[in-house]
Amino acid sequence: MCEVIVVASGKGGTGKTTVCAGLGVALAKENKRVLIIDCDSGMRGIDMVLGISDRLVYDIADAVSGECERADAMYQVDGVPQLYCIAAPLHADDEVSPSLIRNFIDEVRDRFDYILIDSPAGTGSGFIAAAKGADRALVVVNTEPISIRGCRNISRLLDELDIKDRRLIINRFERDRFFKMGLYGDLDEVIDEAGMRLIGLIPEDIRVIALSQRGALTTNWSQTAVIFDSIVKRLQGVDVPVLIK
Ligand SMILES: Nc1ncnc2c1ncn2[C@@H]1O[C@H](COP(=O)(O)OP(=O)(O)OP(=O)(O)O)[C@@H](O)[C@H]1O
Ligand SMILES: [Mg+2]
Repeated sequence: MCEVIVVASGKGGTGKTTVCAGLGVALAKENKRVLIIDCDSGMRGIDMVLGISDRLVYDIADAVSGECERADAMYQVDGVPQLYCIAAPLHADDEVSPSLIRNFIDEVRDRFDYILIDSPAGTGSGFIAAAKGADRALVVVNTEPISIRGCRNISRLLDELDIKDRRLIINRFERDRFFKMGLYGDLDEVIDEAGMRLIGLIPEDIRVIALSQRGALTTNWSQTAVIFDSIVKRLQGVDVPVLIK
């Protein structure tokens, strides 16, 4: 059965797109069939990170309007045979409505084990279109109060959308920086304030930026890729402890 997971944050730039790509690759490595849908209309990015931009012709708006066949808008990611990606429209005006996205998902979900939805920052219509009808949510934060506030705002909307299964991902964690900033006493305080159970702690890793910008996040990126592997295990109910370094 296909599980639809929305990756959200409230605050922009916390790492939603990176997390979608990392989880997509990790799930595909486990032989799962995965579709990533980019719902960040006007600011699409997952195509760049996954290295499919040069081949892109159609996006989700084309697929739902019948401009192209649904399959033509789903691009297989090079080197990751089980991973497909569908781009967001280039222009914000072409944002697809929540109901059309849901119809699209209903039509293709039997072909996949997981559908990951990359949502735009903020709590506007783009977020609703991304989240509505999802089975579960992953909320990506950085260890700053503004980011945690974004998480709480998103939580309220997830309540309204009746998405109860939510887990927290802390991204770009740097231990020394975290304690030097002195904004929180420890990570438990961050988690308590976010009000969500932790499913992953991803370190700051400069290779993530370098590889993303080259469209090469699919290649082996060692330590951080291992973290995504363990998040994927936890998503599937396996009890893997979160290691805090
Ligand atoms: N763990 C990490 N270590 C280092 N850099 C990271 C990490 N995660 C993400 N980044 C970098 O942070 C920046 C923002 O990441 P990303 O685009 O994934 O965020 P986003 O939440 O999708 O942003 P937006 O809200 O604009 O869609 C990118 O340059 C990305 O490469
Ligand atoms: Mg993004």
